[in-house]
Order: sequence, then structure tokens, then C-alpha cells
Amino acid sequence: MQANAANSVPERNMVLIGFMGAGKTTVGKIVADRLTREFIDVDELIASERGMPVTEIFKTMGEAAFRRMEKEYIKDLCENKRCAVLSLGGGAFLQEEIREICLSSADVVFLDIPWESWKTRLPLIRDSRPILQNKSDDEVKALYDARQAIYAQHHFKVNAGHRTPEEAAQDLIDWLTTQQRI
Ligand code: S3P
Repeated sequence: MQANAANSVPERNMVLIGFMGAGKTTVGKIVADRLTREFIDVDELIASERGMPVTEIFKTMGEAAFRRMEKEYIKDLCENKRCAVLSLGGGAFLQEEIREICLSSADVVFLDIPWESWKTRLPLIRDSRPILQNKSDDEVKALYDARQAIYAQHHFKVNAGHRTPEEAAQDLIDWLTTQQRI
């Protein structure tokens, strides 16, 4: 069978998944910087192209519209980028089509953060995440728990709770090296 150049292993994008505030953007930027790769935060891309922050998109257009945009942007990036580091919003992987294209075309890395570590970040991020607004701490915990099965679909996991962003980034790079991706 002939190799498909578009999907050849060294050209794969890296996709970072995980709960809101796990550090996907911070770690992704460090990895991209160290590997001299392009970094794209999908939420930031949507916000800049739509001319409004994600919170505003949720407010004015609704979550369903945001999810449609999120899917189109991620599909497009997966199909057209090579070797980029992509940070996905924490809810993106709930969509089956997004999971399928990422898992088949990219290296999917889960930034895993234990609840006990994550809950200390909640006050810092609540206002900027529409999904967290108007939810009790118990409801946020239920959302966190429900998402774990979705994030379990990955190629590599980094413990983002017990590692600094620099250490987590190095863990990813070490894994890419063992996988002969770099
Ligand atoms: C969301 C996570 C956010 C953003 C939107 C919805 C979610 O991204 O996409 O507010 O459903 O978990 P971060 O994971 O970067 O916070």
C-alpha cells in the first residue's frame, strides 16, 4: 500500500485536550516554542476571526452555534496543518467527529489534572468560562467526572497537576522522541 503523505507520521499535528484550565495553552506554547512549531489555540482563533471572545459568542449566538464553529475550525486545521500544536477547548472532544479526525490524523495528548489540584483553579477561571457560570461546585465536579471518559481517548497522557508547565512540555517532547515523531 502506498504511504499517504498527508498522514505520514512525522508530519502529524499534536492536539492537546483536557478540562478547562488544565494548562493546554501554556503547555502547548512551550512545546511549540521548543520544537519551533506553529501553535494554535482554537478558541483564540475563533475569537479573533469572529471578532468577539468565546464568552460573547456563547451569549449572543448560543452554545450550539459555538460547537458548530469549533467543529469546522478543528476539521479544517486537522486537514490543512502539518506539525502544528493545536490546543482545543475543553468541550471540543465531546463531539464524535472531532474525536475521530483528531485521533486518526494527530497525536492526541491529554493534560490530566486531578480534581483536588484543579478545584483550586476554579475561582480564577470561572468568570471567563461560560460553561462554569451559574454552576455550583458540585455541578462543576459532575461535569469534570463526566468528561473523564471522553478524555480517556488519547495517545498520551501528562499529569498536569503534579508537573510544572515546563516539565509537562518536556514529558510530551520526550514521548514524541520515543515515538520517533521528532
Ligand atoms: C469549554 C472550554 C473552553 C471554551 C468554551 C467551552 C468547555 O476552552 O472552549 O468556554 O466546554 O469545556 P478551555 O478548555 O480552553 O477553557
